[in-house]
Amino acid sequence: MKEAEVDGRILELFRSGDGFVSGEALSRLLGLSRTAVWKHVNALRSAGYLIEAVPAKGYRLLDSPRLLNKHDIGQGLTTRRIGANLVCLKETESTNSVAFKMAEEGACEGTVVIADGQSAGKGRLGRIWLSPAGVNLYCSIVLRPPISPMAACQLTFLSAVAVARAIENCSELTPQIKWPNDVLIGGKKVAGLLNEMNAETEKVNFVVLGIGVNLNVRLSQLGGTLRYPATSLIEESGVEVDRVAFTRTLLTEIDDLYDRFLVEGEGAIRNEWLERSAMRGRQVKVSVGERQFAGVVQGVDQFGALLVLVGDKVETVLSGDVSLI
Ligand code: BTN
Repeated sequence: MKEAEVDGRILELFRSGDGFVSGEALSRLLGLSRTAVWKHVNALRSAGYLIEAVPAKGYRLLDSPRLLNKHDIGQGLTTRRIGANLVCLKETESTNSVAFKMAEEGACEGTVVIADGQSAGKGRLGRIWLSPAGVNLYCSIVLRPPISPMAACQLTFLSAVAVARAIENCSELTPQIKWPNDVLIGGKKVAGLLNEMNAETEKVNFVVLGIGVNLNVRLSQLGGTLRYPATSLIEESGVEVDRVAFTRTLLTEIDDLYDRFLVEGEGAIRNEWLERSAMRGRQVKVSVGERQFAGVVQGVDQFGALLVLVGDKVETVLSGDVSLI
């Protein structure tokens, strides 16, 4: 068992009983020495769990931390690759920057960096992603796909579809995807995705999938300076989201889609992306640098570019801002 799995199992045992669990029982059930059990209990305490120890009775869990933490997220997580290494931080500038640095230093595929809050969350096109602590999900995932840099933008489909699926699993809401990589509810942005890559001419070294989802943030906390209408799951449904359950669901969906991507290629994921797209067949306004034009969205190509029919010509839009007319 991995370290995080042992911690998760200990928490499970604490929660399944109604009182104390003896050190002897823990050691027998986990197949560990009493000293190893004691070390795990102390690691959980350092992570914020309040665990009482009473001689001749054993251990009892009195309280759990409200921060997103790897013990809770790892509990019952049955992914193949994603979450192989789970790092949860209280606060950092940007989980993408942390994950990128870790990947440069050799972090394995499936490494996930999560922060409770970000002081300099990065958005697309050099913008800021507002990241108040304790309410949302900010996470970055290291992938090492055996693909060319040209094909890496296909991974943008993957995280958008995974977020949309996770929202559907954890709420009654119906999300839509807007090119290039926003997830919307009722036309308002609920999640943003920022992929960053390290590559050579022929091969990708690693990609960091950056995912920010507004879960329990109130609009008043985001302020009135956003460039686009924003929302959160709690604003839309009135129900507080269990951040741990949402994170686990999202990691599971990413694991599933990435597996499919490696086996079948991007086709299946692109089709689901298109089905969920808020733009297919709609009139849009496109801004690419100084250039602006309007047209009707036809779809996306296999490199993630938006195909827009302008007059009788199809324009291929690789980057820029697109809004529905
Ligand atoms: C966008 O502009 O829509 C993309 C926003 C991406 C935000 C996420 S939050 C987790 C990860 N860390 C960052 O600094 N950015 C991404």
